[in-house]
Amino acid sequence: PEFEPFCDELPSLSTLSGNEITLTAQVGQHAFHRDFPSSPALSYRSGEIGGGYLGPTVEAHSGEPIMLTFENDLTGHPLAADMDMTLHGMQADFRANPPTSLHLHGGVTSPESDGHPELLVMPGQAAMHHFSHGQEAAHLWYHDHAMGITRLNVYAGLIGNYLIRDEFDTGKLGNPLGLPAEEFEIPLILQEKIFTPTGAQNGRSTILIPEGSWEGGAVGDVGLVNGKVWPELSVARGLYRFRIVNASSASVWNLHFSNMMTFWVIGNDAGMLDAPVAVNAFRCAPGERYDLLVDFTGLSEGSTVELRNDEAPPLPAAVIGEVTMPLFCRFRGDSRRGFTGGVPSQLRGGRRQRDVLAPLEQPTVIRTVTVSQQLELRNPPAQMTLNNLTFSTTDVERPRQGTVEQWNIVNTTPDPHPIHLHLVNFRILGRTPMRTLEYLIRHPQPVIGNKWTPSPDGFEAGPMIAPAPWEAGMKDTVRVDGGTVTRIIVRFPTEDELGFDPDAMFDRLPSAVMTGGGMTGGDQAHQGNGHHGMSNHDASNTGRLQGYVWHCHLLDHEDHDMMLPYRIVP
Ligand code: C2O
Ligand code: CU
Repeated sequence: PEFEPFCDELPSLSTLSGNEITLTAQVGQHAFHRDFPSSPALSYRSGEIGGGYLGPTVEAHSGEPIMLTFENDLTGHPLAADMDMTLHGMQADFRANPPTSLHLHGGVTSPESDGHPELLVMPGQAAMHHFSHGQEAAHLWYHDHAMGITRLNVYAGLIGNYLIRDEFDTGKLGNPLGLPAEEFEIPLILQEKIFTPTGAQNGRSTILIPEGSWEGGAVGDVGLVNGKVWPELSVARGLYRFRIVNASSASVWNLHFSNMMTFWVIGNDAGMLDAPVAVNAFRCAPGERYDLLVDFTGLSEGSTVELRNDEAPPLPAAVIGEVTMPLFCRFRGDSRRGFTGGVPSQLRGGRRQRDVLAPLEQPTVIRTVTVSQQLELRNPPAQMTLNNLTFSTTDVERPRQGTVEQWNIVNTTPDPHPIHLHLVNFRILGRTPMRTLEYLIRHPQPVIGNKWTPSPDGFEAGPMIAPAPWEAGMKDTVRVDGGTVTRIIVRFPTEDELGFDPDAMFDRLPSAVMTGGGMTGGDQAHQGNGHHGMSNHDASNTGRLQGYVWHCHLLDHEDHDMMLPYRIVP
């Protein structure tokens, strides 16, 4: 369709708090742009709050648990035609009855409540999630995680912010750092999309991707912020705090402002940095969150500045490396006097501040894992894997509780893959470029299904590059650049530290799953108010290992099959 930028106001997402909340996944209507008619989209609604597209922002407090009831009220799917029945776990009747599963990304969550990709909540069913919030203030986000359909459910709108507060952040316990709060703290859900000629969401990607195949909504050509195409926000003269999440299907962005002004990264996935990092641009991969301070004091009334991207998507979406999606939104200065506090000089280590980030721990186990794609070109494109295994494998990683491990993540593909581990946080040690071809020749990749994790030692093509200063701190998602070994240091917590058994689900299965033909077991599913309860949906996942997963956060990749379970064993 023909449409102009900056026609819509940036939507402010509604917020939700309390120790018992309900979120309902539903199909609704949403106009993505002033000049588009309303079209079908997915959302999370909570009673009267929300609906249309995306979900409300949940405000939570460190140490104060929330019991979240999640209901699936989906009646069909806006992207039913794009479902790929060749993907793991997909079934033809999902077009009319789409499964979903709610995962709190970044949450320190027990296995029962983690929204495992095969603990599906079918239409008419509900699940209880107990979130204990035994973690410091951070920007988490919740989204769909159902096997084989995550790529379409998330793209179509099943995304929400989840902010954990504590006494060192802003919120009911004060604001010791003097950060912009209330109307000057704004969560921004960044996405890219393609639209049909009538302004509906298009689940089919670009050139080279066949219809109805995986790699659906992978790469877009327009930017969305909080659900609107190229919106505009009127800003007061002063400092703003933007909590951003890259909720796109596939694209790593190099984010910057059109005037190349300096701004500050103060935190990322799992909390704050030691001190603000001044940047003019930074890279942000799918699944990553960044906490930014942006100063609009110098933006005179009526003048504007744009939030932009200048990184091209991976091949084959951008055949000649062109930037297909350069623009997110615009900020317009108004006459209001805004938040006049300055950028704090330090974020940790001072009076009434958290302790500084600990030095990287010494690993006792070094584990090599691989991120790869079969080399031959196929149509549809060949499967993506971790360790050359598929999701149904029982040959999973089994780190021990209480140990510190170094994971050497070898990426033999030319493209970046953001790797996310559920439950744990980690630190990035660095990225080393590799002689990938030599590695592949010396250690030929076997048929998929055979574990393949050759050591990267001896294949380095240069020194290890330290993480960017804005990537320091506790992360749960790391950009593993193409042709590198990316090393992370992970500490796997113990049952005592967590207050729950991180291996419990594995022990209970397979007997606890699929009783009575329902999709969920144990205390996961419950008889909801009225129509939500166990369905007799034919279970496709009997006897699989459950619990935690680690995966690529490119949504089409995690569905096919760049995701594996893992166990944290006693
Ligand atoms: Cu944001 Cu396993 O996901
Ligand atoms: Cu990937």
